Amino acid sequence: MRPFPPYRIQVVKEIPITTRQQREEALARAAYNPFNLPSSMVTIDLLTDSGTGAVSAAQEAGAAQADRAYAGSDAFYRFRRAVDELTSYPFAYPVHQGRAAERVLFSTVLKPGQISLSNTHFDTTRANVELVGAEARDLPCPEFGNLDSREPFKGNIDLDALEQTLRGPDGSRVGQVLITITNNGGGGQPVSMANLRAVRALCDRYGVPFFLDAARFAENSWLVARREPGYGHLSPREIARQTFALADGCVASLKKDGIAPMGALLGIRNPELAKRCEANLIATEGFRTYGGMAAHDLERVAQGLYEVLDPNYLRSREADAARFAELINQAGVDIVQPAGMHALYLNAGRLLSHIPAYGYPGHALASELYLAGGIRAAELGSLYLGSFDENHNLVNPAPFELVRLAIPRRTYTMAHLEYVADVLADIAKNPHRVASYRIVDAPPLLRHFNLKLAQIPAGN
Ligand code: F0G
Repeated sequence: MRPFPPYRIQVVKEIPITTRQQREEALARAAYNPFNLPSSMVTIDLLTDSGTGAVSAAQEAGAAQADRAYAGSDAFYRFRRAVDELTSYPFAYPVHQGRAAERVLFSTVLKPGQISLSNTHFDTTRANVELVGAEARDLPCPEFGNLDSREPFKGNIDLDALEQTLRGPDGSRVGQVLITITNNGGGGQPVSMANLRAVRALCDRYGVPFFLDAARFAENSWLVARREPGYGHLSPREIARQTFALADGCVASLKKDGIAPMGALLGIRNPELAKRCEANLIATEGFRTYGGMAAHDLERVAQGLYEVLDPNYLRSREADAARFAELINQAGVDIVQPAGMHALYLNAGRLLSHIPAYGYPGHALASELYLAGGIRAAELGSLYLGSFDENHNLVNPAPFELVRLAIPRRTYTMAHLEYVADVLADIAKNPHRVASYRIVDAPPLLRHFNLKLAQIPAGN
């Protein structure tokens, strides 16, 4: 029997239904950049799973009662209890979102010229490493290079490359190892406990701190239970506890697996490091018992951290993603295999093989999803990861041309996802009709968010 969500829907929000003509005008007005679209023009928004989950009645009840004391509010103690049941970090700070936790931690731990090693740094994570003057280096495992293979843990870090770097000439410059669970920049693939244990051992051997970017810790724990021998009998909470216990601390955006509109956790084991981070936090974010968060959001996070570990919820979320993947494959579109949980990554380069990298096949598919069906998604290809000369010519394309369909938590039903698969099936019937794009203007910083493009109709 197919798993079903362990909740019913009590409050709903209407979604806009638009015509193709309206969408063509809206996308042109947005300079063909989906980040410029008003959400009032988007029917199904799969741009991100961050802060877009539906909140529960229990979360809203907590929010309504939230104690807004500056110091030591009830909301903080509930947050602290939820974190204690999950991690063994003696220091746990609320922060307004993941990138703020990154800034506070990295500006304390890393020095200019040092290196941060990761399975894959998320883009804000990379930016916060670079802002300190350090280098962010990704070492994804070789299995990730084959998008079609079904290895269970393609989010792992490449342990050989990690050891070689730690032992080699750059070893003394490594300031931290940061493992992202699940690996958002790497196809949403999970990281195995075996990989995390090996990272711990290497970090101990070479005296380097090991942190987690744990935005999707519950989904990683669930996929460990499902895919890694020896973990199937453990609860997701037990696996999450073991995961956090391996690291020296974590940054975790709780807009994902906290199922909250806003919030993050900075968890730290070492008291000296905690003291320094706390000073930074108080100076720049807020006092240690609210860290830039409103009490009502702290309450939503505290409650969300319980709800996200419900095995019935995780089972049904995994089943929805798997079913969505199946429908997309039936539509004739390949995804990065195997399906993870928070997003599916479409292989746009293969579907639109007639569009060269400098016509941006990922962006072309994301735009066509919008034009054909009002579906918003994000390109993860050469626009995002390629390198360019000063005239915006693509010099080095990305290794893959992907489109991420993020799946917000508890927000859309299977019927919405079926609709997305239907729209994709229509596109896949006539891929040659899909337009390509060229860059009109690209700022040097945060290119993805501020790009302006022009459409090149198919056949030109
Ligand atoms: N780390 C990972 C792995 C993330 O996916 C994100 C955000 C962050 C850190 C930053 O957290 O947004 O709370 O500041 N990812 C979103 C996404 C934006 O769409 O994947 P934040």
